[in-house]
Amino acid sequence: KKVVLAYSGGLDTSVIVKWLQETYDCEVVTFTADIGQGEEVEPARAKAEALGVKEIYIEDLREEFARDYVFPMFRANTIYEGEYLLGTSIARPLIAKRLIEIANQTGADAISHGATGKGNDQVRFELGAYALKPGVKVIAPWREWDLNSREKLMGYCQQHDIPVDFTSQKKKSPYSMDANLLHISYEGGNLEDPWTEAEEDMWRWSVSPEAAPDTPTYVELTYDRGDIVAIDGVPMKPHEVVSKLNQLGGDNGIGRLDIVENRYVGMKSRGCYETPGGTIMLRAHRAIESLTLDREEAHLKDQLMPKYAEVIYNGYWWSPERRALQAAIDETQKNVSGVVRMKLYKGNATVAGRKSDASLFDESIATFEDDAGAYDQKDAEGFIKLNALRLRIAAGKGRQQD
Ligand code: ARG
Ligand code: SIN
Repeated sequence: KKVVLAYSGGLDTSVIVKWLQETYDCEVVTFTADIGQGEEVEPARAKAEALGVKEIYIEDLREEFARDYVFPMFRANTIYEGEYLLGTSIARPLIAKRLIEIANQTGADAISHGATGKGNDQVRFELGAYALKPGVKVIAPWREWDLNSREKLMGYCQQHDIPVDFTSQKKKSPYSMDANLLHISYEGGNLEDPWTEAEEDMWRWSVSPEAAPDTPTYVELTYDRGDIVAIDGVPMKPHEVVSKLNQLGGDNGIGRLDIVENRYVGMKSRGCYETPGGTIMLRAHRAIESLTLDREEAHLKDQLMPKYAEVIYNGYWWSPERRALQAAIDETQKNVSGVVRMKLYKGNATVAGRKSDASLFDESIATFEDDAGAYDQKDAEGFIKLNALRLRIAAGKGRQQD
């Protein structure tokens, strides 16, 4: 009867509108969000109207995306398989949530999206949708139709009088891309050969490190309980923080990544990512934590992190395990406040300084100079001997290894 579609306004999802109307004889509600992809969303209105859509939702979700998804994820220093900052993965739960909320508002019983049947995104959209509305119907056109080439899609447009915006088609990139406030991703095209280096003009958000300025840029990030709240002393909202750091990072060639990753559906896939702001944020957050977290607390959250990353990558944001992990991570952030001074230079984001009123770093204890008595070096002898006890016993029984 009625289906809510995640609609970008592009060729693929425009075809989906028509295809849903025809194949399912249903009313299509479109939902288009600005999550910082850097493209106007308002043009989607006229395009949807031209396709006969009556209920059109267009929203600016940048603030919510940064505040409720990106920032919580960065509290855990999250990276998938040691490298990927999860730029696409973290945007899907919010889109799934809005699709379901709009379905509830408009009385729709189904949702639809433009993700293919081979990727992670379908899993993330649909796990989110089922978690939030157990009886929802999901329509994934890419798993059903046979329009699996550009030519067939264009042919479908011609047959059905779908206005194709040729100016945007002309600039059509050879890559499958996904952009939001946190990152831009590239897959497919000549990247499908993992041995082939990405062409320089593929990258859209950053200059190459070689072409970056010869003088470093310094920036001071103020943290309050794990989140950046000001840049160079100027208070900013989460989405403003990410934009500003994207710009500074991009100007200095920071945040490019080229990896082969394991998709949840089982295949390996090669992807390139630009995450300039996120790359700076990850480094800086670890630096403020290095002063303010207890050792065991820090190591524990480092152990939880790969699991948390996998939960997000695989699409289980709206799950009990994600909520449990989040509660543990957030609990560790109470004292993660202070300032980190970052140096941005030719592709590198390095820590130049860190300070905090909640610092556990005690110069009088750590000093190599004469100490004031808080640490008695003689205590170390017993500490080491007792820790060595089991090693000495084993060695005494002839278990000494090479
Ligand atoms: N491989 C990345 C991920 O799974 C990026 C996916 C990009 N999605 C897209 N629709 N182009 O998170
Ligand atoms: C897609 O297949 O729609 C994009 C890639 C992915 O979801 O992993």
